[in-house]
Amino acid sequence: MNMNIGLIKGDGIGPEVVNEAVKVLEAVGKKYGHTFQYEDILMGGCSIDATGEPLTDEAVAVAKTKDAILQGSIGGNTQTSPWYKLPPNKRPEAGLLKIRKELGLFANLRPAYLYPELKEACPLKESVAEKGFDMMIMRELTGGLYFGERYTKEVEGKTVAVDTLVYSEDEIRRIAIKGFDIAMKRRKKVTLVDKANVLDSSRLWRETMIRLSKEYPEVELNHLYVDNCAMQLVRNPKQFDVIVTSNIFGDILSDEASMISGSIGMLASASLNSTKLGMYEPIHGSAPDIAGQGIANPLATILSVAMMLRYSLDESQAADAIEAAVAEVLKTTRTPDIWTEGMKKVSTTEMGDAVCALI
Ligand code: IPM
Ligand code: MG
Repeated sequence: MNMNIGLIKGDGIGPEVVNEAVKVLEAVGKKYGHTFQYEDILMGGCSIDATGEPLTDEAVAVAKTKDAILQGSIGGNTQTSPWYKLPPNKRPEAGLLKIRKELGLFANLRPAYLYPELKEACPLKESVAEKGFDMMIMRELTGGLYFGERYTKEVEGKTVAVDTLVYSEDEIRRIAIKGFDIAMKRRKKVTLVDKANVLDSSRLWRETMIRLSKEYPEVELNHLYVDNCAMQLVRNPKQFDVIVTSNIFGDILSDEASMISGSIGMLASASLNSTKLGMYEPIHGSAPDIAGQGIANPLATILSVAMMLRYSLDESQAADAIEAAVAEVLKTTRTPDIWTEGMKKVSTTEMGDAVCALI
């Protein structure tokens, strides 16, 4: 098979981790007889520098022609980078929100799994880490607080800022369907995380999910308020199978889930629309403080390539091969963020090479 991949290398450590992920993609391609064509797509700070825009319409048009998009990470230091002197809709993050909206990537899958090898890197107490966990956070990605009307205005001499949290039943239903479908392939448990004790939009999430659950009699649906969920994630993460939640809650909870997985450098993600085209990226940021030092952990991006093979390219065998190689490499080889005594400490590129060697 021949596939066209858009590469959004982005800013900071983005290019470093994407290069390693491409290396791994080439290695599985060789093994399973696939070829890949790559085209760079500018987004984020690098796009601002080159074009004045965080994501041009031309770049979006190119992205739409691809089978899948692999993304590093975008943005810079918000205190010091000139990008953050620009108006909000011209900053790097605006490019990310634009591509999500333009490609209709409403379903964001963020799997959080504790590798037995990384138990020591897990900050939870041993009795909790010991039990392990394996969850899929399903975050709605093109609605809610991120895309509602927002403005700042003067009211009676005082500044007022407004952000709007809007969800329609259809927006909830389509992500919920993905959540139930994925649960059917896992442990058949869905937890809706909301704030239905306060928010109207959350009450609509509950009604919609309960109605839909009748179509999935095998799946157990339960409900958790987001504050309780934040607490349960550190108290007993093993209880979760699939979490379905809104844009803002999913953003926050997935960072928490990444931390308990040992390192934010380990978590992959997939952003899907209703076609096969998806965008795949590590959930970590561009980490400008460590960019160019060769110490970034490329495993989250490498695992994102596995998700790309599975969800956009239907190559689950190749995806399995990458995931197995990552599990194997962790037994001996670590980047500094997950390094522990007795392990070989390696650079970003050495980690990429080590994974390739195990494919
Ligand atoms: C994420 C990031 C983005 C988000 C930022 C960079 C806008 O935190 O993908 O989780 O909030 O969605
Ligand atoms: Mg985030």
